[in-house]
Amino acid sequence: MIDPFGRSITYLRVSVTDRCDLRCVYCMAEDMHFLPKAQVLTLEELERLCAAFIRLGTTKIRITGGEPLVRRGVMSLFQGLGSRLGDGLKELTVTTNGTQLAKYATQLVDAGVRRINVSLDTLDPAGFTVMTRWGRIEPVLEGIFAAKAAGLAIKINTVAMQGVNEAEFDRLLAWCGEHGFDLCLIETMPMGEISEDRTDQYLPLSLVRARLRRRWTLTETDYHTGGPARYFDVAETGRRVGFITPMTHNFCESCNRVRLTCTGTLYMCLGQNDDADLRAVLRAGASDAALDAAILEAITRKPKGHDFVIDRRNDRPAVARHMSVTGG
Ligand code: 5AD
Ligand code: SF4
Repeated sequence: MIDPFGRSITYLRVSVTDRCDLRCVYCMAEDMHFLPKAQVLTLEELERLCAAFIRLGTTKIRITGGEPLVRRGVMSLFQGLGSRLGDGLKELTVTTNGTQLAKYATQLVDAGVRRINVSLDTLDPAGFTVMTRWGRIEPVLEGIFAAKAAGLAIKINTVAMQGVNEAEFDRLLAWCGEHGFDLCLIETMPMGEISEDRTDQYLPLSLVRARLRRRWTLTETDYHTGGPARYFDVAETGRRVGFITPMTHNFCESCNRVRLTCTGTLYMCLGQNDDADLRAVLRAGASDAALDAAILEAITRKPKGHDFVIDRRNDRPAVARHMSVTGG
């Protein structure tokens, strides 16, 4: 799959549920309304769509949400996709908030998952409860260490928020170094109504990096995981720190990914509204060939890039849907 700008699309992110057991302040409103079940694809439908993408050249699949591990029976999807590893598919990964990891880490490894991303915005128990509106950090830390013990490589994803967790990054970097995790800092993106003011939350990572450099020796690397992060080696810890900067640095040029929601909507870009309704194609009884054709048509509509802006006078989200819908 090659898009109109010559980018090879090899990475599919699949949101398997819009639901989550937490309510991170930058991600969701407190009183989120979730999709009725009939609109959500079955795990078999999701697997059939993934199979079509693999047929068309997808080599990496990331399972996301919402919180993917709260979807009932989700391990059967991991097992189904895992059985395709080596047969077109090269990597199967997951992004999780960690609350269910203690239960699932071993099963993920058995399915063929080798690396996972865990979202963790602070190490402070009280701060964690504030940022997630009601979560407890203990099960998450327990989950992270269960994943480590099961042999999974772990990357911690931290969304940088002004005045909320900005004093935490040195501690997170040290903690990740101590336990052998990579750390990736992410700028908040204006996606979906969240019941607070986003421009108050936004913290440019250029500033964060400059601050980190007071304490850590950061050397830019050309290490890539197939995602949009730029990585730096941290001399003092021997680990890496990555920065995902959708707002301050255009990360679209090398975009290799598309996103499938749990309702079968394919978004060709995180920050644009154009989509393809693959559920309609699927539920109309399409053959594999017709499904492939619908996907290829969608790829011809992949836009050059997003246009997120931080607009302090007009604090409306750039796209109406939440990250938990599109898949983080
Ligand atoms: N901006 C940036 N990151 C976000 N995430 C969720 N919503 C947003 C947002 N509006 C992050 C989560 C998780 C990943 C899936 O996406 O913290 O790490
Ligand atoms: Fe849940 Fe992840 Fe959104 Fe937090 S960021 S509310 S953990 S989906």
